[in-house]
Amino acid sequence: MSTLIIERELISESRLPQINFSELRFGDIFSDHMFEAHYYDGQWQDFKLKPYGPVPMPPSANILHYGQGVFEGMKAFNYKNEKAAIFRPKKHYERFTNSCRRMNIPEIPEELFIQGITAVVETDRNWIPKEKYKSMYLRPFVVATDQFLGLKTSDTYSFYVIAGPVGNYYREGINPVKLTTMPEYVRAVRGGVGDAKVPGNYAASLLPAHKAQEMGFTQVMWLDAIEKKYIEEVGSMNMFFVIDDTIITPPLGGSILPGVTRRSVIELAQSWGINVEERRISIDELISSFENGTLTEAFGSGTAAVISPVGLIQHNDTTILLDQENMGPVAQRLYDTITGIHHGIVEDENNWCYLI
Ligand code: COI
Repeated sequence: MSTLIIERELISESRLPQINFSELRFGDIFSDHMFEAHYYDGQWQDFKLKPYGPVPMPPSANILHYGQGVFEGMKAFNYKNEKAAIFRPKKHYERFTNSCRRMNIPEIPEELFIQGITAVVETDRNWIPKEKYKSMYLRPFVVATDQFLGLKTSDTYSFYVIAGPVGNYYREGINPVKLTTMPEYVRAVRGGVGDAKVPGNYAASLLPAHKAQEMGFTQVMWLDAIEKKYIEEVGSMNMFFVIDDTIITPPLGGSILPGVTRRSVIELAQSWGINVEERRISIDELISSFENGTLTEAFGSGTAAVISPVGLIQHNDTTILLDQENMGPVAQRLYDTITGIHHGIVEDENNWCYLI
């Protein structure tokens, strides 16, 4: 990997002393620096680490009107109080590249992606919370910047990396969340952009999520767009069910985001000898396995969500009531192992952590 020449403009006074690390939420604090690069004349150039702050954006920029953009969600952890660990950056890069291809955005070279992130993590390493279960969230993203209101692929783009310390994603912390299906809305359909990490997928989920929250649920559990029957994902996480001691998760069929934590859950569970099935699971099958007592756990996985237990799933008039207080044993083992690997407490047998 060749080393990029990155211009560095550092802040004169850090905002770090103002941060209360004991009360971290998700996504509302940003570290001192950010990284940027720009694409014009057919190449990525002008690599710069600079103070976190607003980005210049012409009001006619493509991203503001047609949403040609892609983002990733990654995390850096305090690793044995010695280093910073980024979890599976190559897997995130692969997904980022696939998302860029789907949105017709010129690929970002791997060295630009990795070295841009590394520049921010190295410079702002004191922003990584020391405590287990906390981390520094990393948000690389690319936006189309052509000033043109006709609908066309942009010729110019900007790539940014911003970062900030985070605690739990859900306000429930790691307590079980409550989900509801909402068959009148769909998240994605095969051939669309459901398997790409693009802003529109998330924007389209906001109204149904708002309605779900008004009814007392944490999030919507999406069903497939065609038959409104098969479970897909939860927008902020992929879904897993433990039925008859087998872990079942919906397959990646083009409408589900290929989660990096999802893949890690599958690989870990298989290495423990647990049977894992990536297959379609209908809401009716879920209800009948609840009714006959074989459904013992449901949980979600995601970079922000890590492993989040699900305590209740509502579908029309049927309520699937699981443990309302605690993580089930499978979710707990996965949570302890994955967070342990993040912080260097559990051996990283698969070399998932990239150490800085
Ligand atoms: C992530 O898990 O990194 C995401 O991007 C999900 C988002 C809703 C925070």
